[in-house]
Amino acid sequence: MGYLLVEGGRPLSGRIAVEGAKNAALPACVASLLTDGPIVLHRIPQLRDVSTILFTIGELGKRVIRNGPDLLIAGAPLSFEANPYSVSQMRASFLVLGPLVARFGRAVVPLPGGCSIGPRPVDLHLKGLQALGARVEERDGAVAVMADRLRGCRIELPFPSVGATEQLLMVASLADGETEIANGAIEPEVIDLVSLLRKMGSNVEIDGRTFRIEGRISLSGAEHTLIPDRMEAGTLLLAGAITGGEVTVEGVEPGHLEAFLEALSASGLTIGEGDGELTVVPRGRPEPVEVKTGPHPGFPTDLHPPLAAYLSVGRGTSRVTEGVFERRFTYVDGLRSMGAQIAVSGRTGSITGVKRLRGSSLVAPDIRAGAALLLAGLAAEGETRVSGLEQIDRGYAGIEDKLSRLGAKVERTND
Ligand code: EPZ
Repeated sequence: MGYLLVEGGRPLSGRIAVEGAKNAALPACVASLLTDGPIVLHRIPQLRDVSTILFTIGELGKRVIRNGPDLLIAGAPLSFEANPYSVSQMRASFLVLGPLVARFGRAVVPLPGGCSIGPRPVDLHLKGLQALGARVEERDGAVAVMADRLRGCRIELPFPSVGATEQLLMVASLADGETEIANGAIEPEVIDLVSLLRKMGSNVEIDGRTFRIEGRISLSGAEHTLIPDRMEAGTLLLAGAITGGEVTVEGVEPGHLEAFLEALSASGLTIGEGDGELTVVPRGRPEPVEVKTGPHPGFPTDLHPPLAAYLSVGRGTSRVTEGVFERRFTYVDGLRSMGAQIAVSGRTGSITGVKRLRGSSLVAPDIRAGAALLLAGLAAEGETRVSGLEQIDRGYAGIEDKLSRLGAKVERTND
């Protein structure tokens, strides 16, 4: 996969359009399994993870026709056994389980492998399916789920899990009667799935963190435009902030990033908000901030590593506490190799800012840590080489092109 070569120290500035949200695209593609009708999705990002999910649903019998950001998924799913390869590649593929059980009354799906940000179990997905009447057997690293009928019920999640909420919303949309999901995740990407399900004929009410779904016998095809990718937007804004340049991201929903923007303002950045646009105007090195990540509307865990990179060149000592994943500090070693001063105790990272980072040779451990290392390279003195691009490409489409358009000197080398 090669690596990115970054020449640091160049302020980024200009305007850049943001893609559709990866974490809305993945459940939306899976929701197509709930119907034999055509699903048309717009603003599909050109990402590896999207290719992976489309491979998976294609393997299940769906016809997929893609034309850049537009996607048509048609036909009936023909198999209830998911391809082990794709689920091992990406945890979100596990979302096919519920729709397959709802359509076929049975499904066999491999358990997702752990990943670098923690073990990430799926117990909440399986408990919810059992509550709806399914029988779950684990064997040989997969789950076999059977359900003669899925009956609506009340499910209370102990933690507002994004994936479990999405899985159960999709199953409940074809169950008999009403399902109530309490303490559900309300991330914008989950709400975007609800708006697609509603267009497919599902009756979903949202009251705070409680979802009420009236099951249907069947759902129809629909057309839907995905929300913008708030993680890409936040990362590109931080590319401007960390290099001391003025960057505007276009086609965004500022309301999806309130906690993130509050933290940026607290660090001394001036934030400009326009119609579907956000601009950062840096005023010197960031002031220290205290941030705790958590379920929406809290500070999004996926912007923790990029923010930490920005704070590593700030004044004073900032603290970032990770409230979602066990191992979100995968970016620390890479930043330390560039001269960052970061101490991690439990789930809190203390970041004492330094004037300048120095370029280094780095490997992206996961999507968001990779983004953090790339941002640090943009600000560092000298050259930085970031490999492990199969991680970065999972979540950021054409990142080097976007950064170059903003004035960065970054190129992909495929040797
Ligand atoms: C989604 O992952 C996102 N992925 C993640 O983005 C994001 O970081 C995460 O939500 C939190 O916002 C997609 O939407 C495809 P969770 P998900 O279920 O659904 C525990 C990125 O970089 N948990 O909310 O896996 C779990 O271990 C990715 O784009 C259980 O214990 O997140 C974790 O600690 C990274 N049992 C916590 O909940 C379960 O059954 C959050 O997981 C499910 C989850």
